[in-house]
Amino acid sequence: MSRIAIYGSGGAAREVAWLLEDLCGAGSEPHCYVDDDPARQGKSVGGVPVIGFDSLCSDDTDDIEVIIAVGDCATRRKLAGRCAQAGLGFATVVHSSVRRAPSSVIGRGTIIAAGSIVSVDAVIGEHVYVNLDCTISHDVLLGDFVTLSPGVHIPGNVHVEEGVFIGTGATFVHGTESAPLMIGHDSVVAAGACVTEPVKPNTMVAGVPAVQKKKGRA
Ligand SMILES: CC(C)(COP(=O)(O)OP(=O)(O)OC[C@H]1O[C@@H](n2cnc3c(N)ncnc32)[C@H](O)[C@@H]1OP(=O)(O)O)[C@@H](O)C(=O)NCCC(=O)NCCS
Repeated sequence: MSRIAIYGSGGAAREVAWLLEDLCGAGSEPHCYVDDDPARQGKSVGGVPVIGFDSLCSDDTDDIEVIIAVGDCATRRKLAGRCAQAGLGFATVVHSSVRRAPSSVIGRGTIIAAGSIVSVDAVIGEHVYVNLDCTISHDVLLGDFVTLSPGVHIPGNVHVEEGVFIGTGATFVHGTESAPLMIGHDSVVAAGACVTEPVKPNTMVAGVPAVQKKKGRA
């Protein structure tokens, strides 16, 4: 059995540790938390040590699998690149309460938290973070490094490109097979938004119905 290193030591990291405990049974703790902030290194979270990336790599890493528990998409992308370059493997963690269609696909390094549903022919990329209680309906595509905050509901035929951050409780209208609703890469959908139109890459949208508020990431 692999030892799990959780990259991050904040709220998301503690939630992923809880997810692991639910999956693997009480007492199954991560091997360590990894944090780049020197002020956090040398401390512990729930009795589990927080170490720096260099310390992780100086260990025997053959049986280590990393989970990146960081909500920010760009940071997750950067950390995944760093871990891959160091030859580290990644764990994919799906909570036991997740209802998942056999035809769905879930990529390496992805986290799916409790209460979520992944429906038929949904394709979820690598290092995606699906938070508590999300719905991912039929034929939805989630690109690599997408974050879904708690309670996001995505109906059928919505394509969310790489690096999109979706805030708590956001919803979407459905697309169609011939015209999926496109959410452009590296965009941000604000908490509580209802997205009814395609979203351009690198923009921020908010409100009901959602309108563009900013160019560039929030
Ligand atoms: C989208 C978000 C990241 C924007 O943050 P920001 O860049 O600091 O944006 P600003 O506060 O500068 O707001 C820009 C504009 O968008 C509006 N806005 C921001 N968030 C909004 C929201 N959720 N709903 C409606 N309007 C919103 C602001 O009122 C402002 O409008 P104005 O220009 O007309 O005055 C943030 O508001 C948000 O929704 N974050 C989601 C957090 C979340 O769910 N986290 C989950 C953790 S598990």
